[in-house]
Amino acid sequence: MTRYALPLILCLLSGVRLAVALTAPKVLIITMFDFEANVWFGIPEFNLLAQNITIPGFSPLYPDAHCTSDGTVCLVTTGQAEINAASTIAAMLYSRVFDLTSTYFLVAGISGVNPKLTSIGSVTFARYAVQVTLQYEFDAREIPSQFPTGYFPQGSSAPGQLPGWWDGTEVFEVNDKLRQLAAGFAKTATLNDSLDARNLRAQYSQAPAFALGGAPPGIALCDTATSDTYWSGTLLGESFENTTKLFTNGLGSYCTTQQEDNATLQALMRGALFHLLDFSRIIIMRSASDYDRPHPGQDGITNLLGPAPGFTPSLLNLHLAGVKVVQGIMNEWNSRYAKGIKPDNYIGDVFGSLGGNPDFGPGSIFGGKPARP
Ligand SMILES: *[C@@H]1O[C@H](CO)[C@@H](O)[C@H](O)[C@H]1NC(C)=O
Ligand SMILES: *[C@@H]1O[C@H](CO)[C@@H](O)[C@H](O)[C@H]1NC(C)=O
Ligand SMILES: *[C@@H]1O[C@H](CO)[C@@H](O)[C@H](O)[C@H]1NC(C)=O
Ligand SMILES: *[C@@H]1O[C@H](CO)[C@@H](O)[C@H](O)[C@H]1NC(C)=O
Repeated sequence: MTRYALPLILCLLSGVRLAVALTAPKVLIITMFDFEANVWFGIPEFNLLAQNITIPGFSPLYPDAHCTSDGTVCLVTTGQAEINAASTIAAMLYSRVFDLTSTYFLVAGISGVNPKLTSIGSVTFARYAVQVTLQYEFDAREIPSQFPTGYFPQGSSAPGQLPGWWDGTEVFEVNDKLRQLAAGFAKTATLNDSLDARNLRAQYSQAPAFALGGAPPGIALCDTATSDTYWSGTLLGESFENTTKLFTNGLGSYCTTQQEDNATLQALMRGALFHLLDFSRIIIMRSASDYDRPHPGQDGITNLLGPAPGFTPSLLNLHLAGVKVVQGIMNEWNSRYAKGIKPDNYIGDVFGSLGGNPDFGPGSIFGGKPARP
């Protein structure tokens, strides 16, 4: 090697690095399966198929991230359920394909819906995500006679007691101020609906407890429950309403049920600890596809396996409402969103890993400081 070789190589390397400046999306849309992704392709607003970027560690079903030609908007598809969600998001972060330090993350998926809080076709924005089935469980036939449900927290001895230990992912809280702004953008959308969906909602509006479940589609602010198990029925619904209250100190009420969000949030939170992203830039948008429990006069299995007239409108509404959020952030990028929306509320997990004191659970285990400086 001549004495000039090393400087020359360094110079070339830095040139190469400049040439491949990382794509830095302003908004990254997170979908869970192909139907949710497809509503974002072939749309008038932007072309997410202008760049397909294969990322090692993505699902074999969804190997590529998709981006506009300038890379300002991208979309990934995780695959369904918690393990796929955590694996894909982790792969995206540690592949370092993207610079995500100023990216807004829009989780955009369909979900089951609690008819006490909102209706099929509606689009919701969550503050709390609660992993409701991270608990002990008895089969229905072996539930102790004094228990109202077969689920009770790990390390406890009965339903209604706080967990004896926490795994940290039981509850996540996201930026409420950003959530309010996102819901404001979404409210400018005209939502899709169908006659069949309207007819099903009418069945729910017969019950006073389900007045909101029978109302026309709208934008709602309410929380989301994560579980790999796709549960259904009145009693499990009530059981997980109780769990949500218990795990969030009474602050959360779940209106949507899905199989990924706590896993996505856990992977994002771990990335945030290493400054790969900003945890205050996460929006959890879930549209309501199907009711999590039957209407009066209907049995549980018919509700679960019968026609799902909310499915198509809820998919269409992910794009109709979501694109307003994407455009809202892009339009005010320089004046507002580039620098971020400072949260007023605690954000993060049960352990307080990002710093601050959670308003739920046993409190920070890091003395209110971040787990990593
Ligand atoms: C990206 O993939 C889609 C199919 O998933 C294809 O239609 C599109 O042409 C691809 N884009 C490019 C730039 O190759
Ligand atoms: C799941 O995430 C939500 C926030 O999105 C959080 O409130 C909830 O505690 C999490 N649940 C678990 C079990 O991790
Ligand atoms: C909902 O979308 C379908 C499919 O694009 C369309 O035929 C229908 O007219 C839309 N309905 C409303 C109320 O927007
Ligand atoms: C939910 O909690 C309430 C109040 O503690 C209790 O009466 C009810 O039985 C619980 N429901 C289920 C299904 O666990």
